[in-house]
Amino acid sequence: MNTLHEDAAENHYLGQFIPLHYHHNMLTDKNRMDNFKAAIDLTVFEGAKVLELGGGTGVLSCFAAAKASKVWCVEFNPDLVAESRRFLALNPDGHKVEVIHADAFEYLPPEPVDVVICEMIHVAMLREKQIEVIEGFKTRYRQRFGDQLPVFIPTAVIMAVQPLQQNYNFSGFYAPIIQFQRAHIEHPGVIELAAPQVYSVLDFTQPTSQEITWQGTFTLEQDGTVNALRFVTKNILAVDSAQSSTIDWLIDYLVLPLPRPVTLKSNEKLHVSFHHKTGGSIRSLEKSLQASLNISE
Ligand SMILES: C[S@@+](CC[C@H](N)C(=O)[O-])C[C@H]1O[C@@H](n2cnc3c(N)ncnc32)[C@H](O)[C@@H]1O
Repeated sequence: MNTLHEDAAENHYLGQFIPLHYHHNMLTDKNRMDNFKAAIDLTVFEGAKVLELGGGTGVLSCFAAAKASKVWCVEFNPDLVAESRRFLALNPDGHKVEVIHADAFEYLPPEPVDVVICEMIHVAMLREKQIEVIEGFKTRYRQRFGDQLPVFIPTAVIMAVQPLQQNYNFSGFYAPIIQFQRAHIEHPGVIELAAPQVYSVLDFTQPTSQEITWQGTFTLEQDGTVNALRFVTKNILAVDSAQSSTIDWLIDYLVLPLPRPVTLKSNEKLHVSFHHKTGGSIRSLEKSLQASLNISE
């Protein structure tokens, strides 16, 4: 259980407190933006009714409004409510978006919708409340409108973990420190000691658990010291059935140092376990990490 101090510190970083200047970073993240735009273009049909939970600047609602007849855009942070209304008024389809100052944990649209967009996503599904918001929404929506659920963007999340030998030497200063690594680029100082293994698939069309618990075994592909675990989170934003493909958004990786590095030879086995709650703190995952030589296999 978190201490009061840890809870307060963590709450400061929760989705509803993302400050405005950080939204600029999100708008300039082409990997995020281009894939969401493509998924929205594919999923939202002419005349569709769309709901966005956690609208921020209103950008994804605005993309949806290119084809939708109506978009309800729910935002909790009053600064973002004001800013999104200002931005939407500057965009041609913005008039189709109604920004609603409400809590996504409670809101239901006035009529059934075809598509729900929700981007309250943090790597490893920590900190932000995507899973809890979507699960609560599905329950309330069914009670009000019946069993037929809208299509969700994203539709699923796949999470994997990979053992690394990570360089923690900074100009002679040794600091095994948490870090985020950009996806899709080379990382000097990183040796991937085994391929990533999928530890969780969350499909938003099905009930999803908020408990993530995993244990598994990696066979090392070369000699090395496993001193960190890399957490990989790929969002399946939309399924393109015509092309038999998906539109994905691979978020920056989270790399957590291990409390006790394990030195292994090639083909030796590493046993790894961890657990956390979705929406929980990074610290809660970090504290649960265990990695050791597996001598039983
Ligand atoms: C990661 S940002 C995404 C913003 C925007 N959808 C985008 O893609 O650029 C998540 C947004 O959800 C909002 N949010 C977090 N919790 C919320 C809640 N309970 N109700 C409504 N909005 C919430 C945050 O204020 C933030 O603007």
